[in-house]
Amino acid sequence: MADPFHTALCERTGCRYPIIQTAMGWVATPDLVIASCQAGALGFLAGAVMTPPELTTAIARVKAVTNAPFGVNFHMFQPGAEEIVDIIIREKVAAVSFGRGPNADMIARFRDAGILTIPTVGALKHAHKVAELGVDMISVQGGEGGGHTGGVATTVLLPQILDEIDIPVVAAGGFGDGRGLAAALAYGAAGIAMGTRFLLCKESPVPPGTKDKYLNARGEDIIVSSKIDGLPQRAILNEKLRKIEQSSPLLRWREAIIAGLELKKQTGASSLELLRSLRSMTAQSEMTLTQAMMAAASPMLIRKAIVEGKPEQGIMASGQVAGRIEEIPSCQELIENIMSDASARIASLCG
Ligand SMILES: Cc1cc2nc3c(=O)[nH]c(=O)nc-3n(C[C@H](O)[C@H](O)[C@H](O)COP(=O)(O)O)c2cc1C
Repeated sequence: MADPFHTALCERTGCRYPIIQTAMGWVATPDLVIASCQAGALGFLAGAVMTPPELTTAIARVKAVTNAPFGVNFHMFQPGAEEIVDIIIREKVAAVSFGRGPNADMIARFRDAGILTIPTVGALKHAHKVAELGVDMISVQGGEGGGHTGGVATTVLLPQILDEIDIPVVAAGGFGDGRGLAAALAYGAAGIAMGTRFLLCKESPVPPGTKDKYLNARGEDIIVSSKIDGLPQRAILNEKLRKIEQSSPLLRWREAIIAGLELKKQTGASSLELLRSLRSMTAQSEMTLTQAMMAAASPMLIRKAIVEGKPEQGIMASGQVAGRIEEIPSCQELIENIMSDASARIASLCG
């Protein structure tokens, strides 16, 4: 029998195991990417919250420590997006992931540079759209997943997309262990992509007090809110999120302006650059200016919880899977456990 774990994801990117450590703003730092890649996964740097010089430094840091392949995540609406694309191409990382705003020219540039494109989608129509744009693979995230997420569960969305789309598909949303990997492969996926599970690893930079909040969260406390930035986003229901859920549109607008000013300070973007990125968001999507402002600013709320270690004052983006995670392993331990459990489960099914 051929090795069931050597999938198109391993074949095309050179990673040892069919496991992606997804990009998470402020969490997927070089240290986490180095640890996940050295353990055999394909790690993605969180380029969507980095300035171009920060991304250059982050890529250099990973390359200085490991030869393992890794990827970069970004989105077309972030300040400096064009420069970010140039850096990714110049640095020839193994793969790139993105959510909103891809276009065929950009995808063709990555392809010509030999960089694999693996966008994340949360709906069937978006899978069709990115496939038509010519991407190499798709990461399909079901509604259980952390951060921005769709309304259809992985168990329904994954087979739907596998049936209709003819390129390799990686399963995301709710995965955290070996039986999840075995199940995803049985569905026909080329691997699994995990965010929350890697956030709760030793090498993740999230402060211990915030990690404890994740460990103590129950599945039913990890809700979807559209009031953080106007798009459905899954996060742990804490005091801050409760307030946002109950606040008026006027208060949310005020909140977005405050966070937007913090974002400006943090990224060093000029008012013009910020306005340009807001304009491109509204032009390329159905967002209103308020939504675009909230979307641009929401990473700052996440930052408060997961960088500054003030979990009650910020947003803890999280997948529902946090409700069943009870320990903080190293990336090496996590991946070894997943691989041995998945092997045992597949072996037992094969008799
Ligand atoms: C704290 C956090 C931050 C995230 N930030 C990003 C991001 O910057 N870019 C992105 O494409 N996805 C982001 N996501 C989504 C993840 O990359 C991934 O798709 C998702 O976590 C998968 O679901 P899971 O958490 O159930 O594994 C984030 C998720 C979390 C939990």
